[in-house]
Amino acid sequence: MLQFFDPTQHEYNPNIDYGTPPSTSETQVSLTIDGIDVTVPEGTSVLRAATLAGIQIPKLCASDNLEAFGSCRLCSVQIEGRRGYPASCTTPVAEGMAVVTQNTKLAKLRRNVMELYISDHPLDCLTCPANGNCELQDMAGAVGLREVRYGFDGENHLDAETDDSNPYFSFDPSKCIVCSRCVRACEEVQGTFALTIEGRGFESKVSAGQSEPFMDSECVSCGACVQACPTSTLMEKSVIDAGQPEHSVVTTCAYCGVGCSFKAEMKGDQLVRMVPYKGGDANHGHSCVKGRFAFGYATHKDRIKEPMIRESIDQPWRTVSWDEAIGFAAKRLKDTQAKYGRESIGGITSSRCTNEETYLVQKLVRAAFGNNNTDTCARVCHSPTGFGLKTTIGESAGTQTFDSVMKADTIVVIGANPTDAHPVFGSQMRRRLRQGAKLVVIDPRRIDLLKTPHLKDAIHLPLRPGTNVAMVNAIAHVVVTEGLEDKDFIAGRCEPKQYEAWRSFIMEERNSPEAMEAVTGVSAELVRQAARIYAEAGNGAIYYGLGVTEHSQGSTMVQGIANLAMATGNLGREGVGVNPLRGQNNVQGSCDMGSFPHELPGYQHVSDAAVRANFEAVWGVAIDNEPGLRIPNMFDAAIAGTFKALYVQGEDIVQSDPNTQHVEAALSALDCLIVQDIFLNETAKYAHVLLPGSTFLEKNGTFTNAERRINRVRKVMAPVAGMEDWEVTMALSNALGYPMHYNHPSEIMDEIARLTPTFTGVTYEKLEKLGSIQWPCNEEHPDGTPTMHVLDFPIGKGKFAVTEYMPSEERTNRKFPLLLTTGRILSQYNVGAQTRRTENSRWHEEDVLEIHPSDAELRGIRDNDWLGISSRVGRTVLRARVSDRMLPGVVYTTFHHPGSGANVITTDASDWATNCPEYKVTAVQVEKVSQPSEWQQHFERFDKQQHELLEPATEDADVAALK
Ligand code: SF4
Ligand code: SF4
Ligand code: SF4
Ligand code: FES
Repeated sequence: MLQFFDPTQHEYNPNIDYGTPPSTSETQVSLTIDGIDVTVPEGTSVLRAATLAGIQIPKLCASDNLEAFGSCRLCSVQIEGRRGYPASCTTPVAEGMAVVTQNTKLAKLRRNVMELYISDHPLDCLTCPANGNCELQDMAGAVGLREVRYGFDGENHLDAETDDSNPYFSFDPSKCIVCSRCVRACEEVQGTFALTIEGRGFESKVSAGQSEPFMDSECVSCGACVQACPTSTLMEKSVIDAGQPEHSVVTTCAYCGVGCSFKAEMKGDQLVRMVPYKGGDANHGHSCVKGRFAFGYATHKDRIKEPMIRESIDQPWRTVSWDEAIGFAAKRLKDTQAKYGRESIGGITSSRCTNEETYLVQKLVRAAFGNNNTDTCARVCHSPTGFGLKTTIGESAGTQTFDSVMKADTIVVIGANPTDAHPVFGSQMRRRLRQGAKLVVIDPRRIDLLKTPHLKDAIHLPLRPGTNVAMVNAIAHVVVTEGLEDKDFIAGRCEPKQYEAWRSFIMEERNSPEAMEAVTGVSAELVRQAARIYAEAGNGAIYYGLGVTEHSQGSTMVQGIANLAMATGNLGREGVGVNPLRGQNNVQGSCDMGSFPHELPGYQHVSDAAVRANFEAVWGVAIDNEPGLRIPNMFDAAIAGTFKALYVQGEDIVQSDPNTQHVEAALSALDCLIVQDIFLNETAKYAHVLLPGSTFLEKNGTFTNAERRINRVRKVMAPVAGMEDWEVTMALSNALGYPMHYNHPSEIMDEIARLTPTFTGVTYEKLEKLGSIQWPCNEEHPDGTPTMHVLDFPIGKGKFAVTEYMPSEERTNRKFPLLLTTGRILSQYNVGAQTRRTENSRWHEEDVLEIHPSDAELRGIRDNDWLGISSRVGRTVLRARVSDRMLPGVVYTTFHHPGSGANVITTDASDWATNCPEYKVTAVQVEKVSQPSEWQQHFERFDKQQHELLEPATEDADVAALK
């Protein structure tokens, strides 16, 4: 749609396409466009300068997220003193330039261009799905096209066949004008290079891969090409089915910790499509297949639509009113405490729910339950980040914005797979790597980032699982012994005593790459090279993931990373830093909001009397000064008979926590399990109360992403069961006799701001104004803090920690000779409850075991064979995928499907400081088998039984919904 810019308003408007990307030059250039004086940064295109001045020049092949290409010539202008009609998108402004954008000659030229395009384009506008939202149509109108002299029978494309292979979008080449925006979007925005233009002139056409269907090509279904396409050639199937949306609401993706902003485009209360929002500070208009397309789960038939209760888990569920369900749950909780004591119950907050909801659950536990038995799924992912960063640099969070990576000279990625698990940030990283940044990957697997097209310098350190600390120590040893430290930074910013202690430890020969080679399995020379390119970079940035934290030395490794950044002075400015890549959408927020048993919101320790007094004054109750139970302690106490009731909001601990059989035994031992979720998940099968949850589309609130960015979540449709999640927690608290009254999540945020020093400046009003805020946001930083630790650390001076390498107790032996490590893939998300209920399953129907060809050959294993995988705690069966992405001796699987039982084999060995499970190191044996494991057979039976027990209740709910 042609949009007009208000010349009086010079603020960036994300709803306008400015034609070409902005220039970052600080030199200003003045020119006139149609007689209007315009001043813009040097390097700006004439097209962008005109748009900024409110002058609309027709365009087709240009878009402000792509480099100018200059192929359509629709944007031609006249420039005083220059010959011809240059394309304004490829012409940079110059001092004193005088540009004319409209005159008879230009109008004729543009009409001729459009005529050529239209002669090879079907004229079925009225029945075209893009009708009303088509740039080609708009441009034909804008140039005043009235006739097409060449006829409409451009023979080249009109009968080309549509490619419908992708489940989410179709490709109808008959509509293509070969503007190449899709090809450039795939290259420049996504970094996949899946599309090409084949042929020349009228013969040229867009093609995926080697002229393959999209599904068979390299395409990762990010949707960037669909968004870039100015016609209906590449079009969302949901729009083809439902028609053009009529209103939209800006909200935040509920999948991963990147926290992409989207426009939820609606028709009435039907969500037609999710369009990545250009004004989103985390994604700048890009998306991945999950946030862009996998939203169908929200209206899936499996949604729990009514509250349900039952006396025991072998009984059928009974649909009841909200009042009855909440009353039943409250009575069970009270009775349990009366019988077994105050400490016998607890709650688990959700990293998928909003900050406000998470805050309320921990408040419920501390104020209404009267204990500190609250924990969250971050226990099993990033709790070591909390400990490791807090003890060294003083704050439990990443230090940078995502955009900071664009200033990094060396990027170090440790135990993370950004192109799969944080795809939009992965694309941004790839952009920086294409610009020439160096890459170091420390990971047992050869992750896809190493296959980035046009990647220049890259080093892969394929270390043995469980040897991270040995590796980080070896790198630090090189930094110290080769004189690569930043002495000024260390002297000015770090505690000298701790530094000296660390320095003499790290210099010991036993920490050298040569000494550690036998431990890590990586050549000392390669480690030395990696250490140098990080330490000698102008800006060295470290990004890490669960491959760092989910180890018995997870906290030590996080400290080791912080040590390295301090020693090289890579903190406190753009382009550097220590950046945990958070898994779930709100894992940062759930930690910030006081989900851990020892910390109130803002990481304030419960043992601190002054902190407690603040909360007690606002909450009106006494707060226990003893830290409560962590999730693994809850399980052990349940099995021991002292922990009897649990409220779980939006987590599936049976599928996501290690040693599944232990978790199942713990939940079976409870007298009352209250689960609040959108589906009957694995945990809900052990529940007595099932409270319908609401999806991110059905509520208001905020999420905090991996850059500490607080983003608004806005309601686009009514909650299926009538209540948003925060309202349910509030009702439960009121029923327990602890009053909670909020009219809107903004009031909960106001309370959070009162009690949390890093949030004191956060309000919904400010979020509306700024779009998003990175905490700390307080008097000192009223608009938030993009880069942390610029002048000092929250603990004053940085504290180096001595990081002694201790081998994992989980070791291979003759019985269990292989190491299993687990992770995620692009199309599925976490336990898969959402993505398995979308077409994303087409990319990953089942979890498989990746095994190196040499290990496979030794065991006579071929692709697709059924494999029994046994560890010290359990056994499961998965199909084989022979893959040389793995090191010999290491096998890999994902945990997106509950029946796979990946966590039946992971042990409950855990991080020494935080109990984060050691998912990344399990010694296993693998053999060919012909039937599912005993646990899988039990799973099948139990799953069937629980669905049968649910059926009558869901039928009741469906009948009630029809009334
Ligand atoms: S969907 Fe994304 S990856 Fe696939 S072709 Fe389009 S831009 Fe490339
Ligand atoms: S598919 Fe769309 S974006 Fe790609 S060349 Fe054709 S018209 Fe342009
Ligand atoms: S990168 Fe993450 S936040 Fe962004 S669209 Fe994908 S899943 Fe959503
Ligand atoms: S928009 Fe400038 S040449 Fe196409």
